[in-house]
Amino acid sequence: ATSKNKLKAFYFLMIFTSSGAGYHSESKAKEYKHVCKRACQRAVDRLRAGGLALEAVTSALMELEDSPFTNAGTGSNLNLSGEIECDASIMDGKSLNYGAVGALSGIKNPVLVARRLLSETQKGKLSAGRIPPCFLVGKGAEQWAISHGIPACPTEKMTTKFSLSGYKRNKRKMELAEQVETKRKRQLCEENNSACLDTVGVVVVDREGNVAAAVSSGGLAMKHPGRVGQAAHYGCGCWAENARDVSLYSTAVSTSGSGEHLIRTMLARECSTAMQAENAHQALLEAMQNKFISSPFLAGEDCVLGGVIVLRCCTCGEAQRSEDIQALLVEFLWSHTTESMCVGYMSAQDSKARTHISRLPPGAVAGQSLAIEGGVCRLGTVSD
Ligand SMILES: *[C@@H]1O[C@H](CO)[C@@H](O)[C@H](O)[C@H]1NC(C)=O
Ligand SMILES: *[C@@H]1O[C@H](CO)[C@@H](O)[C@H](O)[C@H]1NC(C)=O
Repeated sequence: ATSKNKLKAFYFLMIFTSSGAGYHSESKAKEYKHVCKRACQRAVDRLRAGGLALEAVTSALMELEDSPFTNAGTGSNLNLSGEIECDASIMDGKSLNYGAVGALSGIKNPVLVARRLLSETQKGKLSAGRIPPCFLVGKGAEQWAISHGIPACPTEKMTTKFSLSGYKRNKRKMELAEQVETKRKRQLCEENNSACLDTVGVVVVDREGNVAAAVSSGGLAMKHPGRVGQAAHYGCGCWAENARDVSLYSTAVSTSGSGEHLIRTMLARECSTAMQAENAHQALLEAMQNKFISSPFLAGEDCVLGGVIVLRCCTCGEAQRSEDIQALLVEFLWSHTTESMCVGYMSAQDSKARTHISRLPPGAVAGQSLAIEGGVCRLGTVSD
């Protein structure tokens, strides 16, 4: 006899990346693993309470933004005038709606504003038939957030000892650089100022099989006024798309790394598209190699820094034929060309989150070679 149980499955992972050799070592690694675990728990709590992927992604990302150790939200890199300007975006695989903010100041959780923009677009047209915005930047974004009930937060409250000392160090470096020749320095791939890449992202699949992805970043230290990084760009920082008639797999992707490289290659969307191929591992390997490291859009660039987390899932085997979905096959992978990347993940069946610091193989050159890892997980209740 078979017992048919409804699918009660959810799954998710997240990232940070860093360029600095040894940056994810010792004490820092511990902090990252901790915050990863907390963020996993946040998302899982949401899902257990009946929340969908979009809500879970938002909760986990807020936890990551609140950590003083990540370059997102609190503790973000400071710009030239010592202030914080954040980028964040979110995408819902079910509705395919998208929300993003760029160069946003004065708001504690940028992803919350992106999330709100996304939900406002779902409400339809504004007065006089105007289409609601999905991407806002700078002062306009800040004012929009406040007028939609998201409280303001002064820069001082989001600044940490770590971000301040980084700012002072960078300022000294810049002053020095103006005196000495800087070309050689710029060519160095792995800058000591590794915090610039420590952005965060989350991907989730919920019990209904919906996927969602989000990403948040404090941007480059000392960035040019008005600069907006990949975390706010459509198709670059995150992507989520439920399976449709033409596609077998639902996919969710989040990226981190050198913003300009991720923008010019639209890496999140490229990886998502690649994931419709049969072999996920091979597809991601090829995407990272051909669409990123050796991308014609980055010709002449010998140091291409980035990392992705990818989740794809399908209802498979028996389940496809059954009214009652019984199993969800989830494949999760991560890949990076940076020295290291911290990943955390947790499934419906786990009692606690797992974390992992992935590193390039010995001898591999950051920005030119890649690491790729991942796993498969069958969720839901299989009848027996
Ligand atoms: C990194 O910092 C160390 C010590 O401050 C310095 O010796 C080294 O040259 C720096 N490396 C780069 C790539 O800037
Ligand atoms: C730094 O950010 C603040 C807040 O958005 C902005 O007013 C200022 O112009 C920025 N400064 C630079 C140099 O980008």
